[in-house]
Amino acid sequence: MKILLIGSGGREHALAWKIKASPLVETLVIAPGNPGMATLGELKPVSPIDVPALIALAQDMAADLVVIGPEVSVEAGLADALALAEIPCFGPTAAAGQLESSKAFTKAFCDRHSLPTSAYGVFETAAAAKAGLSAFVAPYVIKADGLAAGKGVVIAPDLATAETAIDDVFGGRFGGAGARVVIEEFLEGEIGSLFALCDGQTSMLFGSAQDHKRAFDGEQGPNTGGMGTYSPAPVFTPTLVEQTLTRLAEPALASIAAEGAPYRGVLFVELMATQDGPKLVEFNARFGDPECQVLMLRLKSDLVPYLLACATGTLHELPQPQWHDEAAVCVVLAAQGYPDAPQMGSEIIGADQDFGEDVVVFHAGTRRDADGTLRASGGRVLNVCARGPSFEVARQRAYAAVAKIDWPGGFYRTDIGWRALGR
Ligand code: GLY
Repeated sequence: MKILLIGSGGREHALAWKIKASPLVETLVIAPGNPGMATLGELKPVSPIDVPALIALAQDMAADLVVIGPEVSVEAGLADALALAEIPCFGPTAAAGQLESSKAFTKAFCDRHSLPTSAYGVFETAAAAKAGLSAFVAPYVIKADGLAAGKGVVIAPDLATAETAIDDVFGGRFGGAGARVVIEEFLEGEIGSLFALCDGQTSMLFGSAQDHKRAFDGEQGPNTGGMGTYSPAPVFTPTLVEQTLTRLAEPALASIAAEGAPYRGVLFVELMATQDGPKLVEFNARFGDPECQVLMLRLKSDLVPYLLACATGTLHELPQPQWHDEAAVCVVLAAQGYPDAPQMGSEIIGADQDFGEDVVVFHAGTRRDADGTLRASGGRVLNVCARGPSFEVARQRAYAAVAKIDWPGGFYRTDIGWRALGR
């Protein structure tokens, strides 16, 4: 098979690593990819939102399957264009992808289909949003409506901070994503990430993980795209998995199809495990980053048949995927200043060494100079991932590998998995 993979982050590096391991794959092309992926496939410098160029690339290479990594490609309508070109695609259409690309759409969708989530209000001006705060109590959850790479959410402890967050969104901090603000009730509980594959009709559980959203140890600092993950996460008892599937994932996938936008790809359900069961925090229309990294380390089955089945409507023909009976941990190394103003260009030494068979370092925001020097070129830069017979061993292996990387320009959280350790 010839596969075109879209994206350049740690998530896509992990997908490429797993796709490359499939005996079904003869050619892997990645657009645009990153330096860490260069040994896995041929990199093509095409933007993930340049839909005409991506279609041309898929046609040139006679791709049997296109795998969409990032949400920006979903929002840009890549899956829609691939459908017109009759090229199988793993990833939802722009219409189905509104489950991620508009928080206001998703809240109204939850209302229409009685999916459990927090109370909310949608506001089109800063003045209306500030007035709307009176319907909520602190802490206030302020969200830009559109895509903001996980950074468009502020949990404001008081009114003044909430009002500043509202001004930031309407002041253009998130570009077009900030045309509307969603204010939400703060949910008490433990957060988790659950994944379901769907081929437009049939859906299938595809693992779970727990992320760490705040930039710094002790859940301090601004929200980020995610600073580290582990899988399996003890919060996902069999009951919580079952409730999340039957109360959120399955009804959402059936309802979006009933609304005329069948969903093909992976639905990422970010939920709060509350005393009343799971409540939706957000849907995402792609794998989580860095949740995908730990899922790929734990996935024993060949990934490719599952991606292809989602694209071709044949998921019902596949068995449940097999998982390694081991834990996986991912520690994100980010550039100093992330998420607000990451400093680019600092040199990273030691990322490409052999860390042993249970450790994999996925690249995200990296670039390589002509002389081979590796440098930071984004906010989240490296994902140090490890597997082990227990969560503690996997975590120890991941942090031991982090210690071997010499990068004064970066930082990381030292408490990934604190909830699991505390249990
Ligand atoms: N790690 C959270 C996300 O991918 O949105």
